[in-house]
This record gives sequence, C-alpha cells and structure tokens, in this order.
Amino acid sequence: MDEIFGIKGQICFSKDLEHLEIAENGIVLCSRGKSLGVFEKLPEAYAHVPVKDYKDALIIPGLIDLHVHAPQFVFRALGLDMELLEWLDVNTFPQEAKYADPAYAKEAYSLIVEDMLKGPNTRAVMFATLHGESAEVLMDLVEQSGLVAYVGKVNMDRNAPDYLCEESAEASAKATVAWLTRTKGKYQHVKPILTPRFIPSCSDQLMQKLQEIQETWDLPVQSHLSENISEIQWVHELCPDTSCYGDAYARYGMFGGRYPSIMAHCVHCPENELDMIKNNGVYIAHCPQSNTNLSSGMAPVRKFLDMGLNVGLGSDVAGGYTTSILRAMADAIGVSKLYWRTVDASAKPLCLEEVFYLGTKGGGAFFGKVGSFEKDYEFDAVVIDDSQYHKCIDLSVKQRLERAIYLSDDRHICAKYVQGRQLF
Ligand code: GUN
Ligand code: FE
Repeated sequence: MDEIFGIKGQICFSKDLEHLEIAENGIVLCSRGKSLGVFEKLPEAYAHVPVKDYKDALIIPGLIDLHVHAPQFVFRALGLDMELLEWLDVNTFPQEAKYADPAYAKEAYSLIVEDMLKGPNTRAVMFATLHGESAEVLMDLVEQSGLVAYVGKVNMDRNAPDYLCEESAEASAKATVAWLTRTKGKYQHVKPILTPRFIPSCSDQLMQKLQEIQETWDLPVQSHLSENISEIQWVHELCPDTSCYGDAYARYGMFGGRYPSIMAHCVHCPENELDMIKNNGVYIAHCPQSNTNLSSGMAPVRKFLDMGLNVGLGSDVAGGYTTSILRAMADAIGVSKLYWRTVDASAKPLCLEEVFYLGTKGGGAFFGKVGSFEKDYEFDAVVIDDSQYHKCIDLSVKQRLERAIYLSDDRHICAKYVQGRQLF
C-alpha cells in the first residue's frame, strides 16, 4: 500500500462547483491510499513509478451515494405508484421485516453489495433495518467487498406495524448499544452511523436515548427531512412545540453542529429550516429519482447551492430504482429543469459541472477529503470504457463524460480503486 503508482487516461474531476478539471492523457498518482495530484507528464522524481495506462478510457473519482436503504434493494422498481407513507406501509415495512433472519439478510445484502461493487459508486451511507444482527451482516459484506460505507442499524419504536417496531425506547437503545459494542473495532472500511428512521417512527424518549448514545459513542447521524407534505404535517402534529421538522432533530442534538448529520430529501423545507441546515452544516442528500417516483416533489437545489449548503446525491433505493450515482446526476439535471420551468423561473437548471461535483466532491466531503483527485484526497477512482459512445462522432472529453453520465452502465466500468486498493 505504501508503494507509489499511477493510472493514466482521460481524467475528469472537480475542484469546485463551477469547473470541471480535465487532463487528457493525464496521470493521477497514488501514495499510501492518497492522491499526489494529477500530472500531464510524470514528474522527474516519480520517473520510476509504475503507471497503468487505461489509454482512451475516462477516469473519474469514485461516486458517493449519500443515502441508500440496503434492505430495499431486492424490491427496487416495484410498487412506485404510491406516496411515501402508504408506500412504507404497503411495500417497505413487510420487506424490511424479513431481515429479522440473518440468513435472509446475508443473501439479500449480498445482492446490493455485488451491485455496488460492479457500478460507479465507491462509497455509500446506508440504512440497514432495525435488526442489529443483520446490520452487522451488511457491515461484514461491505468490509469484504473493499468498498467504504457508513451503515446504520435503524431505530423505530412507534407508528409502525408490530412486526417492525421495537418494543420500547429502552429496547431500541439497548439493541443499538449491543450492535455498536459487537462491531466496535471490527472493520477498516465500515463505520456505524446513528439512524433514527424519521421523526414519525421515533418517540421523544427514544430520541433522548439516542442523543445519549450519540454523545457516548461520538457518532454521526442520518435521517429523513421534509420529504413529503403529509409526513411534514404529521411531524407538526407529533411535535407541536417545534419550530419546524428539523427542530425535532435539533432539540436532541441530531441536526449537525457537533455531530455531522445527513438529512435525505429536504424537498419542502421552510426558510427557517434551511437557515438551521446552513448554520449547523447539515448535509443534504438530494435524491431526485426517489422524489419523482414517490411524487414527493422537486427539491430546490439551485437555492441550496446559492445558500452554500452541503449537498450530495443519494439513490434512496428503493424510492429510487437504481444505485448508480451517474443516474442520479442525470436525474438531478432533469428535475432541476422542470423546477425552473414550472416553479421558479429564476432557479437556473443544474449543469454538468454542478451535478458531477455533487456526486463526487459534494457527497465525498462527508467522508473527509474524498471525491476529487486533488492532492491529499483519498484515492478512489473509477475507469469507464465509453468507446461505444464516441463512434462516428468527434467529442471532447467533457462531451464524452456527459454521454457517459447518461448512457453508460456497469458493463462499462472496467476498473475501480478505493483508498488506493484496486478492487478490479
Ligand atoms: N422515510 C422514512 N422511511 C423512509 C424510507 O424507507 N424511504 C424514504 N424514501 N423515506 C422514508
Ligand atoms: Fe430514504
């Protein structure tokens, strides 16, 4: 691992939202799992370094899925004719209940880990289910794959069917501590994340206990925020003394600040909630495919960017039907055009540079220096053979990247590196 090596090809990466950095026939060097930067020619000092030449293939940073439900992978692309709350009751909860059986979990979780391994994502922030043993199975599988993830055992002690509801706040907290204790120190590439499902599923007593666990174990947190109008109304009824949905997390210290947090969706955040997101540095996982499928709405991403919020992309499988963050980039552009056309003519649609940033460096920031080839960034790289998409047409590397975002699939991913380790 402390050997230095390089990979050569048509390199694309982001430094900021506005610009795409392109190095044609460029070389990105890796030392001890980190990038030494991108070079047009090997510097003299590195003349001896082995360089794997991917020739005309595109090389991009590994993509980051900031929000995915691993147990829902097996029923993706089914039953998307409902809105969130009905969809949870009818499709999701019965499926998640199956993960009470760790043997089932092993079979089902293997499928999403295999899928992710073959695809363009290198890192994900994942929900498991409320079952601690199965969450551990998922962590084992991710660790073996060489991918990097945060995985959360879900907490839910109210407003769920008996077959998928923890008995009490105490029982939920106890199971969480047992899961954290069992998995502590077990992994190199997988970390735990606190995961209250969403406010309707978590009693005040449970949130209180999770706050204590968060402080004791120093954990980041992931959850859902302002995804669906009926859900938001429900939170107002359940928590009448809060100023907004986000406040229902913030009053238990689970809305950024000291402990990093990811909130998925943020489709319908009022102004005061967006201000809290900004002030606390909360990460927004923008999930355009899921927001479309579950008719949740169109998130005001231009506004997020204008406000300087932390934003990444999420597949939200199985609200979304594909794990690929290339697909999320294309969907983010498409939805932003509809938003501009139908909601706010001043909200300029997202462009290629912006969605590429969101799917790489934007989401990667949650993991540290991740999602770019700039010096000292962790070396996560994906090589895409897009040769079938530039036949009979002359394209720049930027145009080829654009086409690869829309057209490529797992068959075109020909090599993958995570933290300097070559997975294939
Ligand atoms: N809110 C609470 N649970 C879920 C879930 O499983 N998926 C989505 N999209 N939203 C949720
Ligand atoms: Fe979700």
